[in-house]
Amino acid sequence: MRTFTILIANGPNLGHIGRRQPEIYGSRSITELTDMIRELLGPERVSRIRLDFFQANGEGQLIDRLEEAMRQGVDGIVLNAGAYTHTSLALADCLAWIGIPCVEVHLSNILARTDEPLRRTSLIGRSCAGVIAGFGLHSYALGVCALWQRFMDTAKPTAKE
Ligand code: DQA
Repeated sequence: MRTFTILIANGPNLGHIGRRQPEIYGSRSITELTDMIRELLGPERVSRIRLDFFQANGEGQLIDRLEEAMRQGVDGIVLNAGAYTHTSLALADCLAWIGIPCVEVHLSNILARTDEPLRRTSLIGRSCAGVIAGFGLHSYALGVCALWQRFMDTAKPTAKE
């Protein structure tokens, strides 16, 4: 059975998860993510997942890394684009053509942030397989689980086969 590579990509101001405004974004550090995923998926499945981590504050750097992921044959992306979620047509365009299933994730529930209406919108969501928001760092772990399920569903033979 082959191994699946998932890129965990973080956008601007997400280099200090757990320390940045913990009252909004939670206090768990990104270093805890692998253990969280192991708890959800179990050790056997986790042994078949390789996680690559990337964080950049710049829009172009993120796009360059996503294109690199395409060249590398990365199987799935969990992306928290931070504020670029709400503004970046360029990121949406990139996700639309690289052909890698992407789960958009957010630490906070962006839909519940009624005090800041712009945060309730996503430009990149249209180019993603799905969106998970509001569970702190667990949003990322759930994103990995969703991709795992998708990999397994895709690998399943159809009724005709
Ligand atoms: C965020 C929500 C964005 O609105 C914000 O700009 C972030 C973090 C989240 O994870 O909740 O940087 O993506």
